[in-house]
Amino acid sequence: TVLIIDFGSQFTQLIARRVRESGVYSEIVPFQSAEEAFHRIEPKAVILSGGPASTSEAGSPRAPQIVFDSGVPVLGICYGQMTLCVQMGGRAESSPHREFGRAFVEIEKECPLFDGMWAPGQRHQVWMSHGDRVIALPEGFEILARSDGAPFAVFGDTDRRMYGIMFHPEVVHTPDGARLLSNFVHGVAGLKGDWTMAAYREQAIEAIREKVGDGKVICALSGGVDSSVAALLIHEAIGERLTCILVDHGLMRKNEAQQVVEMFRQHYNLPLILVDASDRFIGALEGESDPEKKRKTIGRLFIEVFEEEAKKLGGADFLAQGTLYPDVIESVSFSGGPSVTIKSHHNVGGLPARMNMKLVEPLRELFKDEVRILGKELGLPESFIGRHPFPGPGLAIRCPGGITREKLEILREADAIYLDEIRKAGLYDAIWQAFAVLLPVQTVGVMGDGRTYEFVCALRAVTSVDGMTADFYHYDMEFLGRAATRIINEVRGINRVVYDVTSKPPGTIEWE
Ligand code: XMP
Repeated sequence: TVLIIDFGSQFTQLIARRVRESGVYSEIVPFQSAEEAFHRIEPKAVILSGGPASTSEAGSPRAPQIVFDSGVPVLGICYGQMTLCVQMGGRAESSPHREFGRAFVEIEKECPLFDGMWAPGQRHQVWMSHGDRVIALPEGFEILARSDGAPFAVFGDTDRRMYGIMFHPEVVHTPDGARLLSNFVHGVAGLKGDWTMAAYREQAIEAIREKVGDGKVICALSGGVDSSVAALLIHEAIGERLTCILVDHGLMRKNEAQQVVEMFRQHYNLPLILVDASDRFIGALEGESDPEKKRKTIGRLFIEVFEEEAKKLGGADFLAQGTLYPDVIESVSFSGGPSVTIKSHHNVGGLPARMNMKLVEPLRELFKDEVRILGKELGLPESFIGRHPFPGPGLAIRCPGGITREKLEILREADAIYLDEIRKAGLYDAIWQAFAVLLPVQTVGVMGDGRTYEFVCALRAVTSVDGMTADFYHYDMEFLGRAATRIINEVRGINRVVYDVTSKPPGTIEWE
């Protein structure tokens, strides 16, 4: 096991993910409980994450001394590098020159971290995000790479197997970063890469059993890969004490609720209840135009419905959801950290603070593409795994401006035609997510000699790996023309179609 000590970086989960990708199991613990965790886990290597603090502040966090005394290999990243430096007897200070974004490092010396990728004299792109810098190395350490803003970009003591790096190897903008982390866990720490999603499955099941005890769970099923995988894991863990509930909030796509229920019943023998709550949701949302209020209202109603269903079942202790890590990071602003709330994903931030059930979220550490791998591991059919993501609040957040039943109906039709064209063109699997948005804007058109004054429909399609960043999909214009013509001809209420060419960042994938 690799122990990752978290000092509050936005990227700590990405470090864990890269370690998983190199086939090694890791556990993240907050720095406050790292000492206890070190004794419990007896890790074979330790990674110190970045974080928002500065080692020059009084009371700034430190790694427990045992980490450095135990002889295990240590890798400090960003803030982790600073605290490694200071705790080993070096000095660091906060620097007036903050380095942020793309930077280059110049390699000074060979070392096991750079094995097979970086050699002295070469320059390589990395991604920096820091305000502190090292001013004196601890004894026994030497400079391994420098950058313009950081003369000690990488330092280390090869004998003691301790390294500090200023940049972030875990982000994709450090192209060789995954290899560097893999070099650390394999080359430096000598760990075998034999950990797989199959092992993750076992651990997740064990963790669910421990958390739930002999309690009862209801699982919010949407038919997407996340909630399906969550349901299967929990079913493996606790069997018939799980009931799945699919709430039709009237914000699903055309015929979706029925299709999902059929698909699920065809493949699985899980207790599954379909609740039609569409009038209730749409009644509460009618006229609402504020995106965060929409999300909060939907989150609140979901919980109300689940609590009522739980009561009918004679009570449930837990509500399970397929929340993923990107939902968590975009909904939660870490105290003192640099991240702000982008939107309240209804799996997380859209939920009311008071609710009678506790949450079980077995996928909270994973990214979408990892959930798909886990889904394969669980034998989930391709028809589930390959489905485009669909947000919990559904069409409500694809209908900017006030929601009405009529607008939802128009949007549902346009979206169905768009997806149908995508499937016919054989593009469904090449696109990460595609959908239509109904704009609260009417424009003038001419159809069959008459004037029209109808809504604009925007089409969106993106490619992505994990939903954290995305690029707009580069369609052939012929395709867009075909989809637009069909939508305008077949959907009453739309007379103009536009295509969204915004990537994430700066846009988000959904419009609200
Ligand atoms: P954004 O719009 O934040 O979306 O770039 C990233 C991914 O998350 C989906 N999404 C949600 N999923 N509940 C969900 O379950 C939500 O509240 C929610 N909001 C966005 C979005 O569809 C995309 O795949």
